[in-house]
Amino acid sequence: MSYHTSVLLDEAIQALQLKSGGIYVDGTAGSGGHSEAILKANPDIKLYAFDQDQEAIDYATRRLAPYKNRVVIIKDNFSNLRTRLALEKVASIDGILLDLGISSRHVDSGVRGFSFQEDYPLDMRMDQSKELTAEVVLNTYPLEDLVQIIRDYGEEKQAYKIAQEICERREVKPFKTTGDLSTLIDDIIKANPKFIIKTKARVFMALRIHINDELGALKQVLVDAVNILKPGGVIAIISFHGGEDKLIKEFFREEEKECVCPPSFPKCICNKVSRLKILTKKPIVPCEQEIRENSRSRSAKLRVAIKRRWGNDESS
Ligand SMILES: C[S@@+](CC[C@H](N)C(=O)[O-])C[C@H]1O[C@@H](n2cnc3c(N)ncnc32)[C@H](O)[C@@H]1O
Repeated sequence: MSYHTSVLLDEAIQALQLKSGGIYVDGTAGSGGHSEAILKANPDIKLYAFDQDQEAIDYATRRLAPYKNRVVIIKDNFSNLRTRLALEKVASIDGILLDLGISSRHVDSGVRGFSFQEDYPLDMRMDQSKELTAEVVLNTYPLEDLVQIIRDYGEEKQAYKIAQEICERREVKPFKTTGDLSTLIDDIIKANPKFIIKTKARVFMALRIHINDELGALKQVLVDAVNILKPGGVIAIISFHGGEDKLIKEFFREEEKECVCPPSFPKCICNKVSRLKILTKKPIVPCEQEIRENSRSRSAKLRVAIKRRWGNDESS
């Protein structure tokens, strides 16, 4: 079983516009696939590769060993990127790649609690040094919080019914394993099997996003990345979830705007500076062949922007 198949690999490397002598960040090293391609593409760049998962760090460290003079591997959340780079005496970078979410390994091995097809303890932490697990969420969160998580992150129409059932069942027997949650969904969604699988996928994804504060980390890294990007530096992000893609799209748009004054103002008084130029008006998506070869790539969207050289200058 392979650890992970990198998605939109060539597209992401091309998007980064790698410059000789440049400093780059892979915020989500995973199996090291994108990192390796970056290091291979240009022998004269330095890469800082982050991952919050120890298993990924171990795997990427082995894979990237041939490049060890040009890569620094850091086990941390990418939301701490700025501080961790400062400790490495790096104040600015030429590009950053993020390939969000979990790796195939997280789902396929099952033991970490990310899979509804296996029966293992309800964990779902990418960073196992953190305390919050799926077991804690399911057994202690109030009804309205569970509804919000399942509805907002899972976009699940039956969020209320599922959350209500969780609250009732845990009074009788606390949730311990992924099988307990999976059985609950089987019992509620008695329709066709395809529908059950989709519902399970949505509920498990919602819990995972909450437990790992995935949107919070993304908001933080967007702000930090733009601050430390050099003029002409590139930010490239692959996302798999509608909420993440919306956040990235809106952030890029805000950073591209030259003025945020209300339209009724006769002249601009906001002094807003456009810091980014969006390079992908529409996201880059995997081609049919990639989707055929790796069905997990089907929801991927790559958005790319470049830091302007001189704020509000169209040519930059
Ligand atoms: C989709 S995989 C990346 C795969 C990688 N690009 C490759 O080619 O193998 C996402 C990885 O990012 C890590 N990750 C997700 N959110 C993170 C965060 N906020 N900080 C650091 N690592 C994160 C996960 O642990 C996982 O290993």
